[in-house]
Amino acid sequence: MKVAFVGKGGSGKTTLSSLFVRHLAGVGLPVVAVDADINQHMGTALGLPEGLAAPALGDHLPALKEYLRGDNPRISSAAAMVKTTPPGAGSRLLRLHGPDPFHTEYALALQPGLSLLATGPFTDDDLGVACYHSKTGAVELYLNHLVDGPGEYVVVDMTAGADTFASGLFTRFDVMFLVAEPTRKGVSVYRQYTEYARDYDVAIKVVGNKVHDEEDVAYLREHVGEDLLTWFGHSPAVRAIEQGRPGAALEDAGVAALDVLRKAVDERVKDWPKYLEQAAEFHRRNARSWANRAVGEDLEAQIDPGFAFPG
Ligand SMILES: Nc1ncnc2c1ncn2[C@@H]1O[C@H](COP(=O)(O)OP(=O)(O)OP(=O)(O)O)[C@@H](O)[C@H]1O
Ligand SMILES: [Mg+2]
Repeated sequence: MKVAFVGKGGSGKTTLSSLFVRHLAGVGLPVVAVDADINQHMGTALGLPEGLAAPALGDHLPALKEYLRGDNPRISSAAAMVKTTPPGAGSRLLRLHGPDPFHTEYALALQPGLSLLATGPFTDDDLGVACYHSKTGAVELYLNHLVDGPGEYVVVDMTAGADTFASGLFTRFDVMFLVAEPTRKGVSVYRQYTEYARDYDVAIKVVGNKVHDEEDVAYLREHVGEDLLTWFGHSPAVRAIEQGRPGAALEDAGVAALDVLRKAVDERVKDWPKYLEQAAEFHRRNARSWANRAVGEDLEAQIDPGFAFPG
């Protein structure tokens, strides 16, 4: 299952995505954590010592594309593969923790069943539609080619802002958790995201964070209604866990909220044909708006109408 944590800067995406990752991995579930934020903090949040980081996927795009295209005749070269190029006959598909370069070369194993992928740090210039070597492109390609099943989790710590919506990356997730503080800014991001996602069947669930009291909950509920899934209080344990204090553990209420997140993910039913259809739609859009020009080919021809994901 593919899960993203989104929200405004400082809302708690890294904190909650990392807690969620630990929560799943702690009971032995297979998890790949993906740091796709401009500033890379997820490794540290997952307990990596300072100075140790997963290799930057964004620095290895040509090799990754070369691997993924396999012998797909519709993709003439790695250079002709853009971030939205969907898999087709001959493409190499990925399995969680499978024998492919994403998982064997670039993922950093944190503990059995848990590894970390990272885009590497990037700048605003790397974002947006006009960039076909974009760092988040590596994540988009990864998600597009990954055949995951129930009980397997990819948890992506996303960058704040709307880039996710420009490329179609937001349709790659089974669930998007929108981390929102009970503030005007927090809920305005919610409004913006639901507006973008309106025409797509994307599950956006609001996760309140740094909630102090019932009035905060009421505020969130008033502004996001039924989309409010659960919330986290302002937690002293978060700081203790961050500092790596021995014996630091999340409060019971936080653990219960993490269980709610897991349940929300586990309830989602995959629709692979739709997944592929939306990939094709955004690829078409990308091809027309910049990629055909950038590559000098008709990239819409990369879409393989006969292709289906193995069930
Ligand atoms: N529930 C919480 N209780 C206490 N502190 C929290 C909680 N959630 C987040 N924080 C603190 O708030 C700060 C911001 O959190 P975090 O880095 O997770 O946000 P972010 O959304 O990832 O930010 P950025 O947009 O900069 O990546 C951190 O110092 C973190 O420790
Ligand atoms: Mg962060």
